[in-house]
Amino acid sequence: MKVLVLPGDGIGPEVARPAAAVLVAAATRGHEFVLTEAPIGGAGIAAAGDPLPEATAHLAEQSDAILFGAAGIAGDTLLPAARRPGAGLLRLRKRLGLFANYRPAVLYPELIDASSLKPEIVRGLDLMILRELNGDAYFGEPRGVSVDAGGERIGVNTMRYSESEIRRIAHAGFRLARKRTRKLCSVDKANVLEVMKLWREVVTEVGREYPDVALTHLFVDAAAMHLLRRPTDFDVIVTGNMFGDILSDEAAMLTGSIGMLPSASLGEGRRGLYEPVHGSAPDIAGRDIANPLGAILSSAMLLRLSADDEAGATRIEAAVREVLARGLRTADIHTPGTTLVGTAAMGAAVLAAL
Ligand code: NAD
Ligand code: IPM
Ligand code: MN
Repeated sequence: MKVLVLPGDGIGPEVARPAAAVLVAAATRGHEFVLTEAPIGGAGIAAAGDPLPEATAHLAEQSDAILFGAAGIAGDTLLPAARRPGAGLLRLRKRLGLFANYRPAVLYPELIDASSLKPEIVRGLDLMILRELNGDAYFGEPRGVSVDAGGERIGVNTMRYSESEIRRIAHAGFRLARKRTRKLCSVDKANVLEVMKLWREVVTEVGREYPDVALTHLFVDAAAMHLLRRPTDFDVIVTGNMFGDILSDEAAMLTGSIGMLPSASLGEGRRGLYEPVHGSAPDIAGRDIANPLGAILSSAMLLRLSADDEAGATRIEAAVREVLARGLRTADIHTPGTTLVGTAAMGAAVLAAL
């Protein structure tokens, strides 16, 4: 299996390299893994003047799976949009047609005291946010900043979804719900935005093909509130690109830390891009304190979804549970009575547990 490792920026390399080591150590299907590294994000700009160098994009197209760290450098919001490190990731998702982004938020019982919520509210949390990844205000045209007749600057982005884009992510949501508890909650802003009214209509239409799945709808503001009020009522949440971005960071804190959350981005085939939900965290980069478990759990998703290696995926998840049960914690999930370890030591502990 050809796996392209894109460490990226900040804590990206610190978490992606242990995740790659865990991937190879855990696999059970006898695949020969060929790992290649390439630059993306700020590292892409440094290497080739582009956040997605053509050589990196080409390697990604030739790969069976991609393991990604993070993209982003301090102060990068001042750069023009196309030159920002994150634009490399956005272009890669689009170019590979990876439209379905699976972001599970699972509370490990050992981390219940690290959650921002009271134990009785968050106990048993196991939900999946399915975020559409190729549309919305992220890619809609027109976009940009221009100067109007009065000399004032006007910023424009376009929230845009076609019926077929909504339909394919809705089908992915219903299929996923069937594999879980047959509950799907679609999140939109249909009370205000026409594009989201279409979203709700199309999801409802697709739902008629899945009469065994209980479909509900929430407006995004209420969904944000209910995620904190009754998070364990949710199972699968399907939503657009921007709302999914925001809600998944919110859901992260229910699990104890954004450093715990993995993700998988898939298109029509088996090739996927696997990455932790967090960013490059410039505030803690280079200090060996970042939590590598979100990246490591992304390797588990890679084995499950791109390598058809359920046993290997389960081994990684069991190893993560074991190190947590032994009391090892990085700073972001550290609570009294547990043992504080750094990024490298946490990665090594997972390898040892394997
Ligand atoms: P961030 O996720 O990088 O960090 C948010 C907070 O969470 C910070 O306090 C950080 O220290 C902490 N944190 C994040 N990951 C952690 C980990 N593994 N262990 C411990 N603590 C962790 O978000 P931000 O600060 O808003 O963005 C920083 C840069 O990353 C920006 O350039 C942004 O565009 C980029 N970004 C990239 C991705 C990605 O590559 N997928 C995702 C989000 C943000
Ligand atoms: C994420 C990130 C990216 C996004 C950024 C870095 C482009 O926040 O993967 O959640 O907004 O999709
Ligand atoms: Mn995000």
